[in-house]
Amino acid sequence: MESQEAWSRLAALAAVAGARDIAARFAADPDRPARMTRTLDDLSLDLSRSSIGEAELAALLALAGAADLEGFRRRLFAGEAVNATEHRPALHMALRAPEPAHLHAHANASAWDQACADAVAERTRMRRFVADVHAGRLVGATGERFDAVLNIGIGGSDLGPRFVCDALTQVHGPRLVPHFLSNVDGHAFAGLARTLDPARTLVLVASKTFTTEETMTNAAAARAWLAAALGEAAVGMHFAALSTNAAAVGRFGIAPERMFGFRDWVGGRYSVWSSIGMSVALAAGWDAFAAFLAGGHAMDQHFRTAPFADNLPVLLALAGIWHRDVLGAASLCILGYDERLRLLAAYLQQLEMESNGKAVALDGTPAAHRTCPIVFGAAGTDAQHSFMQLVHQGTDLVPVDFLLAAEPDHDRPDAHAILAANALAQAEALAFGRDRAAAEAAMRAAGADARTIEAVAPHRVFTGNRPSTVILFRRLDAFTLGRLIALYEHKVAVQGCLWGVNSFDQWGVELGKVLAREIRPLLAGEPADARAPTVASVARLRALQAGP
Ligand code: F6P
Repeated sequence: MESQEAWSRLAALAAVAGARDIAARFAADPDRPARMTRTLDDLSLDLSRSSIGEAELAALLALAGAADLEGFRRRLFAGEAVNATEHRPALHMALRAPEPAHLHAHANASAWDQACADAVAERTRMRRFVADVHAGRLVGATGERFDAVLNIGIGGSDLGPRFVCDALTQVHGPRLVPHFLSNVDGHAFAGLARTLDPARTLVLVASKTFTTEETMTNAAAARAWLAAALGEAAVGMHFAALSTNAAAVGRFGIAPERMFGFRDWVGGRYSVWSSIGMSVALAAGWDAFAAFLAGGHAMDQHFRTAPFADNLPVLLALAGIWHRDVLGAASLCILGYDERLRLLAAYLQQLEMESNGKAVALDGTPAAHRTCPIVFGAAGTDAQHSFMQLVHQGTDLVPVDFLLAAEPDHDRPDAHAILAANALAQAEALAFGRDRAAAEAAMRAAGADARTIEAVAPHRVFTGNRPSTVILFRRLDAFTLGRLIALYEHKVAVQGCLWGVNSFDQWGVELGKVLAREIRPLLAGEPADARAPTVASVARLRALQAGP
């Protein structure tokens, strides 16, 4: 089937009377939960609370066929330059592949084998460093052990380690307490400088390019802070670099043995599996980091080998296409019902929106379809008490992903039961809603008089028919966290393939960086080439700075 034909088929299916009605789907097919759920071991993906039926799924799979998803998947794992605008492969999967006994980098090795060999070599260096820090063989300038690690990075050099550290250290507590400095706003560093003891702090400068202005500015501030407290000679003992740019790391004054590298085929938002994950290994321990990588690899194997109809990342992607392109949903809400997933939405915002927030197709023509939705979210149940009002009763369709573990890692089963009941209640309310008669009946039962019922009942109606995807798993351990992140990574890649965009570049971040460099002199009162509103705003700022 041609791509255009597949898209038309989807539109035609959605136009059939009643086809978008989730409740009607359940009424017609009581086995729907089983029919629309796929599993990978204990991890399940339930698409039943959507209007996708078997015909829609078949059409979505035909769309994947028309987009040659099979070929894309093969090229991705073969290390072909799927990142066409930067002429690079996207081989971050190699970072979490296990170490094969036969693996030696040699001239004729495949791109995949070379990538694995490379990853293994760097991981071995990382592991030794982590062990030395934990054992107290590497200490600070005063001879004290490190008990805090400060990761200075931004974007993918911050969000991944920040999220994974947060998730993995809530239960067992950190080996080293992780701290993160991303924003160039001096308030961010000031707060950290007040709390951290330089003598016991290990500083990681995490930057793929080692040129990012925010990170280099913050790294310089941290360096000055440390040198002021412990002397310039201490810098070498307290700093390490996570980067691909050895020359810039050297110029900053970090020795080669303190630099942990990765290759340019690791995109920033896919880099937590590389040495950028150093803070995870230091805070949560090497075993947790290794289990995290193993989980990512398990999802890779599944994505690479499972038929598309049973393939979790593919199905999650197809559901997203249905909601975004066929039903027109402009956003996607991510609700991890788990405190450890409170940073998941922030992480996925970069992964999804930096990857697929594009309006130009691979061939340079305008994208033919609506691409990435706006991603937002929070931890459940917190979200219920902030933005879920709009998701239930607002004028826009907002599909939701719910994530929930069966077994908590705490000893309050009562709290977990409430959490789980709330997650499932939200999904049920979204799908089935509450009609006027039920709203009135509830008010009558609560003793409301007829006039109040007449006036208020319309406000207490839930339209329902709002889709969600429910992702369940046994426990949120490091392995499962790895599986979940890789699930979304591959989902994003599949959607990029179907939308025909390059998911692995991010040119949209460039212009603002260039303009910021050009505008900066203006703030110092020097002439600069800027547009009228910018000049006016700078003038206003300078007037305010000059005082009343
Ligand atoms: O903001 C764009 C970006 O290039 C992200 O893709 C990346 O994760 C981030 O900046 C940080 O880049 P670096 O690791 O090179 O400092």
